[in-house]
Amino acid sequence: MRAVYPGSFDPVTYGHLDIIGRAAHLTDELIIGVLKNNAKSPLFSLEERVRMLEEVTKDYHNVKVEAFEGLLVDFAKRRKADVVIRGLRAVTDFESELQMAQTNHKLAESVETIFLTTGLEYSYLSSTIVKEVAAFGGDISQFVPKMVEQKIQEKMDERRRV
Ligand code: PNS
Repeated sequence: MRAVYPGSFDPVTYGHLDIIGRAAHLTDELIIGVLKNNAKSPLFSLEERVRMLEEVTKDYHNVKVEAFEGLLVDFAKRRKADVVIRGLRAVTDFESELQMAQTNHKLAESVETIFLTTGLEYSYLSSTIVKEVAAFGGDISQFVPKMVEQKIQEKMDERRRV
């Protein structure tokens, strides 16, 4: 089974890594699809987000990281993926995730979505929360890998200098 795990990953957190580890175990090949989203203004560039993901997933032999633009279903079809993987942290994620999965299924019947429930220890965690804590000088070491923590600190230092 080949799967796509899509997201913004701005930046990757331990919550994402929890899903990546479990999805990599379930599938033969896992492609992490990093969205190039012109509408949002991310903290990290597309290249930075891809590079951080490559670094923190380098020990998985069946995981690769790719950027994509446009519709997720088109990316999934181009990569001949059988499924899209999404993580569900809490019931609050469910409504929008259901809508997305159903829309994707309408757009491309061959694309199925599989939901994995995020481990309880990460159910509160999001990239937005991590950025917020870091912006106010809080400790984010329990939320993201060391190299991501360093990259966020660099960004915050740059911002303080401007
Ligand atoms: O990490 P995120 O921001 O929750 O990921 C959202 C993502 C990238 C999965 C979603 O925005 C997406 O698939 N965007 C691509 C555009 C698309 O296909 N939209 C239709 C799906 S409703």
